[in-house]
Amino acid sequence: MLEFAINTAEKAGRYLAEHFGKDLQVEHKGRIDLVTQVDRAAQDLIVSMIEERYPGHSLVAEEGVTRIQSSPYVWYIDPLDGTVNYVHGIPIFCVSIAVYKDGEPLIGVCYNPISKELFWAHAGNGAYLNGKKIRVSAAETLVDALVVTGFPYATDRMDRIIGRFSTIIREVQGIRRLGSAALDLCFVACGRFDGFWEEGLRPWDMAAGIVILSEAGGTCSSFCGAGIDLAAGEIVAGNMRIHHELVRLV
Ligand code: IPD
Ligand code: CA
Ligand code: CA
Repeated sequence: MLEFAINTAEKAGRYLAEHFGKDLQVEHKGRIDLVTQVDRAAQDLIVSMIEERYPGHSLVAEEGVTRIQSSPYVWYIDPLDGTVNYVHGIPIFCVSIAVYKDGEPLIGVCYNPISKELFWAHAGNGAYLNGKKIRVSAAETLVDALVVTGFPYATDRMDRIIGRFSTIIREVQGIRRLGSAALDLCFVACGRFDGFWEEGLRPWDMAAGIVILSEAGGTCSSFCGAGIDLAAGEIVAGNMRIHHELVRLV
C-alpha cells in the first residue's frame, strides 16, 4: 500500500510539474480560495488509481470527492497543497496522500515534484526524505526555534490569529509562511523548522504530514494539547520540547 501511495503521488506530481507555469483556469471557491483545472485533473488521476486498486476503501479528497464505505481504511487526498503558490509560479507545493486505518495514522506521502522531494512514512517504520531517514530538530528553546504557520482563507477569525502570531513572534527566532501545510509538517519532520501551528485546516491538509512528523519523532496536538482531531482542523507540532512551548503560547 505504501509503494502504491508513493507511485500515485509521484504520478500526480509529474502532472503538476508538467503544467506548472502554463495556462491555468483559475476559479474561486471563496474570496481567496482558488482551484484550477490542474487541481481537479490531478485529483481525478489519484482517485481513479485508488478506486481501481482499493475499491472497498473510503476516500476523502479536497475537490468534492468523499466516498465513505464500511472499511477500516480511509484515504485523505490533497492533489495540490499550495494552490495559491502554484498559481503564482512559486515552486512550493506538493501532492499529499495519507491512509488512516481505524482512525489511526498508517501511511503518509508528500511529494514536491519541482524540488523532487519525496517525504514518506509508514506507522512504526520511521519517516524518510528521498530514501534517507529523517528526524525532527534538537532545538530546545524558543529563541533557537524557526517556526512556521499558515492563515486560513476565511478571515473572520483573523484578529485572534494575528494576536497569536504577535505573541509567538516575540519569543522565537523567526516565523515563516510557506503556503503548504503538508510541507510545513514535512519540514518540521526533517528538522528544517522546529515547530508549526495553524487553525482552520482540513483533514487532507494535515493527514499525511502528521504521519511523517510522528514517525520522525515529532509530536502534534490540538491547541490545548489534546490529541489531534482531523475534523477540528487545528494543530500545534514540533519536536517534543518546542511543541510543549508552542502549546503554552498558542
Ligand atoms: C492550503 C495550504 C495553506 C494553508 C491553507 C490550506 P490548498 O491548502 O495548506 O498552507 O494555510 O489553510 O487550505 O488550498 O493550497 O490546498
Ligand atoms: Ca491543502
Ligand atoms: Ca489543495
